[in-house]
Amino acid sequence: MQPSHELPAFLVEHLSRGQAAAPTGAISQQELVSRTFETDRGSQFFDAVSVPEAAEIAAEVRRLRPEHSLEIGCCSGASALCILHALEGNGRGTHHVIDPFQTSYARGAGLANIRAAGLTERLDFHEAFPEAVVPGLPRLQFAFIDASHLFDLSILDFVLVDKRLDVGGVVALHDLWMPSLQDVVRCILANRSYRALHVQQAPPATARARLRRWLGAGLSRLPRAADFFRGELLQPWESLGLGNLVFLEKTGEDTRGWCDHVRF
Ligand SMILES: C[S@@+](CC[C@H](N)C(=O)[O-])C[C@H]1O[C@@H](n2cnc3c(N)ncnc32)[C@H](O)[C@@H]1O
Repeated sequence: MQPSHELPAFLVEHLSRGQAAAPTGAISQQELVSRTFETDRGSQFFDAVSVPEAAEIAAEVRRLRPEHSLEIGCCSGASALCILHALEGNGRGTHHVIDPFQTSYARGAGLANIRAAGLTERLDFHEAFPEAVVPGLPRLQFAFIDASHLFDLSILDFVLVDKRLDVGGVVALHDLWMPSLQDVVRCILANRSYRALHVQQAPPATARARLRRWLGAGLSRLPRAADFFRGELLQPWESLGLGNLVFLEKTGEDTRGWCDHVRF
C-alpha cells in the first residue's frame, strides 16, 4: 500500500514525524498511564493514527463509498482528514465528527487542521457527547471509534453506532493494544453479528503472548472448558491475530433473545 497516493501529502509528512508505535503486548497499568501522556502536544497532529493506519482507513472509505460516515474522537483531526479526503475522492458522502473535548483537550486543533486543508465542505462537526448526537444521525455505512478508550464508554459508542449502521457497513476501532478495547472487540465478535475484515498484520508475538497462547490451547482441551474458563483464557487476544486497528463488518441485525450472552 502506498499511503502517499491515498492521503494528503502534508498529513503523511506530519504524521511520519516521530510517532511512537503502539505497544506490541500487554503492559502494566502504570506503564499504560505514562504512555498515555507521552504524546507530542507541540506538533500539528497529536494522539493520531499512524500513516499506515490512516491509509487503511482511507482505503476502506474508498471501498465502501459511504453516503454518511461517522467518527467519534477527532482530536487534532488526522483520521478525520484522511476520511474527508477519501470522501472527496469518492465525490460523495458527509462525514459526521463528534468530539466533546475538541476545545478543552484538543485546543481546536482538529477543526483548525481540517479548515487549513480546505476539507470542511463534507464535514458535520459536533462538539458534544456521542449519546446526544448519534441517535439523530442518518443511516451510516462507515464509523470510526477512537474516543474515550474506556471499556464501558467504548461499548456505549459501539451500541450507538450499531443502531445507525447499515448491514454491510463497517465500524473500525483503534488502539487495540489496550486491554479495554480488546475486550470491546471480543464482546462484539462473541455476541453480535459482526466479522473482522482484512485483518491488519498483528505485531510479532512476545514471549508472554506465546505463553498465553500455549496455556489457552492446553486449557481448551479440557472437557467443558468453556463452562469453567473465560474466553480470554481459552482464546487469548494474541491468538486472534488482530492488529492495532480493526475493521468489523456488520453481517446482520441484532436478533438476540433477552437472555442471550456469550462470555468473552
Ligand atoms: C486518540 S484521540 C483521537 C485521535 C484521532 N482519531 C486521530 O487519529 O487523529 C481521542 C479523542 O477522543 C476524545 N474523547 C475523549 N472522551 C470522549 C468521549 N467520551 N466521547 C467522545 N470523544 C471522546 C478526546 O477529546 C480526543 O480528542
